[in-house]
Amino acid sequence: MGKLCVFLLVLLFYTIVNAGSGSHSLWAFVTYISGETPFPEFTVVLMLDDIQVGYFDSNIKHYIHKGYNASEETVVEETYQAAYIFGAMSLSLKERSSELKRFNSTEGIHVQQRLAGCEMSDNGEPALIVSRDIFNGIYADLTIYYNMTHYSYNSGNLLSPWSEVHQTYVKGLYRTIYLTICMETLKMYLEKEKTFIMRKVRPRVRLIQKAMSGGVQQMSCLAFGFYPRHINLTLLRDGQPIAEQELTGGQLLPNGDGTYQLRKTLEVSTEELRETHNYTCTASHLSLDNKLEVSWVPESGADRVYLSILPAALVMVSIIITICISICLRRRNEAGSLTLSQLSNTDDAQVAEQISLSSHSET
Ligand SMILES: *[C@@H]1O[C@H](CO)[C@@H](O)[C@H](O)[C@H]1NC(C)=O
Ligand SMILES: *[C@@H]1O[C@H](CO)[C@@H](O)[C@H](O)[C@H]1NC(C)=O
Ligand SMILES: *[C@@H]1O[C@H](CO)[C@@H](O)[C@H](O)[C@H]1NC(C)=O
Ligand SMILES: *[C@@H]1O[C@H](CO)[C@@H](O)[C@H](O)[C@H]1NC(C)=O
Repeated sequence: MGKLCVFLLVLLFYTIVNAGSGSHSLWAFVTYISGETPFPEFTVVLMLDDIQVGYFDSNIKHYIHKGYNASEETVVEETYQAAYIFGAMSLSLKERSSELKRFNSTEGIHVQQRLAGCEMSDNGEPALIVSRDIFNGIYADLTIYYNMTHYSYNSGNLLSPWSEVHQTYVKGLYRTIYLTICMETLKMYLEKEKTFIMRKVRPRVRLIQKAMSGGVQQMSCLAFGFYPRHINLTLLRDGQPIAEQELTGGQLLPNGDGTYQLRKTLEVSTEELRETHNYTCTASHLSLDNKLEVSWVPESGADRVYLSILPAALVMVSIIITICISICLRRRNEAGSLTLSQLSNTDDAQVAEQISLSSHSET
């Protein structure tokens, strides 16, 4: 069962990570178990993006709404439709199960898993519908895929392919009926859960520097506490993006509170440290009008981290202010009233202001 859980998690993350930033998806994670186990024979977990919105199993025999805005009163029609669809799915899996037992004649526990669902693109149009089966956690089985331009059917290696007639029938079912039902359900849940699904939580970005053995420095760029899950996190060396191959990490991780975190790490060798490059971590996210930036300039001998979290527009504004101030100062200087040290003091004040502004924007 451990393997199966890992597989399910991988599938879940595969589907979650691959959807575009404005798109939404509805996936049913279906498990059919034959043999003696303490689990129900048939289980469905329904996910809207990354939250669970429904549950069905063969013991309770009715559909349960979950999620943050699941109302107490049950919507009879929806519940009836879900119970009907999952009931039909359970029957088809039961049939496949008895056929698959011929493939693996040993008695005992056999598990079929099905990932079935649809995705909606940024503009609200249907993007794809997929159904993918796995047998005993390792054997890829039946796959049906339709992305509005391209339809594919793969019978897998375990059972003999369907007849032409049956294939045509199933193709029609997916392209019209299943796609419509799935999209309608997706939109219904999106409306219901919009306060959660459509919320925007700004990421916080940190550069964390750690000394490793042999003088190597490990530099991690961490973005955390953001929602939705789509984020672009880029590490730059002297303003140039660092190739992903040089970086480790990069897996999106859920936090307990429904937000996400992402970390990317770069190892900086002693030679590279001597070259005194500057490093920047930038994050762009739906919740931000401008990129968040954190910079690090290694100083030889001292481990000093220079933090500045400045949206690009703020940088522009402060550059303009600085130019204005120096023009003003130059005018006054011409009048012979200001020294150079006073000028640099003004610049220091500017930096302090940027930093306090940035820590404000960061929280
Ligand atoms: C057949 O089923 C048994 C019991 O579940 C399992 O241990 C074995 O790996 C399966 N073999 C194949 C080829 O699926
Ligand atoms: C659909 O899938 C096919 C084959 O994978 C691909 O060539 C095509 O670009 C896809 N269409 C869309 C709209 O994604
Ligand atoms: C960082 O590198 C960029 C590109 O080389 C350069 O323009 C910038 O002045 C550097 N910043 C610092 C603080 O060294
Ligand atoms: C991330 O970058 C890609 C490609 O440049 C872009 O299409 C996408 O909108 C960006 N996502 C965010 C959240 O900024």
